[in-house]
Amino acid sequence: MDIEFIVQGTYLVASALFILALLWMSSPKTSRRGVRAGEIGMLLAVAGTLLRHDVVSYDLILIAMLLGSAVGVPMAYLMPMTAIPQRTAISHAFGALAVGLIGAAEYYKLAPILAPGSFVLWALMFEMLLGFLTCTASVIAFAKLQEIMPTRPIMFTGQRAVNVLIFAAALVSAGMLIFVPASSQLFPVFIGLSLLFGVLLVIPIGGADMPTVIALLNSYAGLAASAMGFALDNKLLIIVGALDGTSGFILAMIMCKAMNRSFSNVLFGGFGQLATGPAGQAEERPVHSMTAEEAAPILELAGSVVIIPGYGMAVAQAQHRVAELYEHLEEKGVDVKFAIHPVAGRMPWHMNVLLAEADVPYDKLVELEDINPEMPQTDVALVIGANDTVNPAARDDPTSAIAGMPIIEADRARTVMVVKRSMSAGFAGIDNPIYFNENTQMLFGDAKKMAEQLVKDLQEL
Ligand code: TAP
Repeated sequence: MDIEFIVQGTYLVASALFILALLWMSSPKTSRRGVRAGEIGMLLAVAGTLLRHDVVSYDLILIAMLLGSAVGVPMAYLMPMTAIPQRTAISHAFGALAVGLIGAAEYYKLAPILAPGSFVLWALMFEMLLGFLTCTASVIAFAKLQEIMPTRPIMFTGQRAVNVLIFAAALVSAGMLIFVPASSQLFPVFIGLSLLFGVLLVIPIGGADMPTVIALLNSYAGLAASAMGFALDNKLLIIVGALDGTSGFILAMIMCKAMNRSFSNVLFGGFGQLATGPAGQAEERPVHSMTAEEAAPILELAGSVVIIPGYGMAVAQAQHRVAELYEHLEEKGVDVKFAIHPVAGRMPWHMNVLLAEADVPYDKLVELEDINPEMPQTDVALVIGANDTVNPAARDDPTSAIAGMPIIEADRARTVMVVKRSMSAGFAGIDNPIYFNENTQMLFGDAKKMAEQLVKDLQEL
């Protein structure tokens, strides 16, 4: 049988599997099947590509596969779930760099023989613009998520004008490269401008808005790969890139809605950070604090408790202890619910995953728009390792870096208990006024140990 027929056949099956993967991954019940379908699709895609007649030597490919596996396999096993966003960001950076470099190689190969204005030149410029800007934007996103660089927005005067000018200059140089064959000396300038624009796109974005950025960079990387498919005449790349690009785009729109951000601002890198807000160093104002032993009787006597988990619960792996705490309180006749913020933790709906893992009944999980009206009638809001997602500055301070972001209104409960280790800031790097309220009690300590201690003290009552 003709090899090309087999290659196109595997591409067709792989494309179908990718579409099914997206369908199945949209529901928790079928998501594992979705991941499997995606994996098989990718295996077929790689196998089909290796069969292509234009592969001249397998030696370098084998070395690259071994090196890639040596990095990728330990990373997959050792990486904690809380580090998934930065891992995704760095994968995008490498993927986008590969797309950009292939585009550059193709440009040098094809530009002398293609007619000015040809479609392939358009596709190559689009691919390289998105590829290179996604590469540096993803590196900055990685550095912010890994907290190697400040998570707070980095701003300077005239930033938007500079961004627009650099983007416009990149577009003009791309236009010259497409239509004027003699302008090929502009090529490194075009690449430099694309790389620089990626940096400028992400530095003004604050930590709290990183989830939307990651989704958007995912979309840009997919669209760049799709453009590469047009340049290389590879149908699988066109389909898969378009699926990746559009699904990332849809996720970015969903995240924008959840975070109350304007999508057009996000697209052009201006997240409308009005001001920088107060610094994130621990404020030296008095707070009220109590021990688990003192907190347990208050929880036992409460009619209703809303547990608000966040990143601290994830990083302490405290979900099982928190589930035990929930069971003990329910046994004692307390009405317990969990308030879910879509970006609590480090992945969209991260808390749902952790609480499902700890067998907390799904009907006990309440989304923020449904729980907020109940907060003023709630006896105790028990915040476990959440910070930005309960920060009232988002609601009350229009100059805050997280102004407008929806929050769980823990501060409206009769009593607020906050479990965290210190007074340090959350991911957005800004102070949280909730800690200084009269009705707030701080329970300083690791989330897992504190939940364990609360269970023990409840048992002894
Ligand atoms: P954060 O604002 O990140 O705050 C987490 C808090 O947990 C910190 O203040 C920290 O205080 C505490 N903590 C850390 N380790 C702890 C431990 N072992 N035990 C107890 N507490 C611990 O949390 P959040 O409210 O979940 O908000 C998430 C933030 O991340 C948002 O700004 C969101 O936009 C951003 N983000 C989210 C995502 C997604 S998609 N979910 C992706 C990237 C970024 P101490 O150090 O004092 O303990």
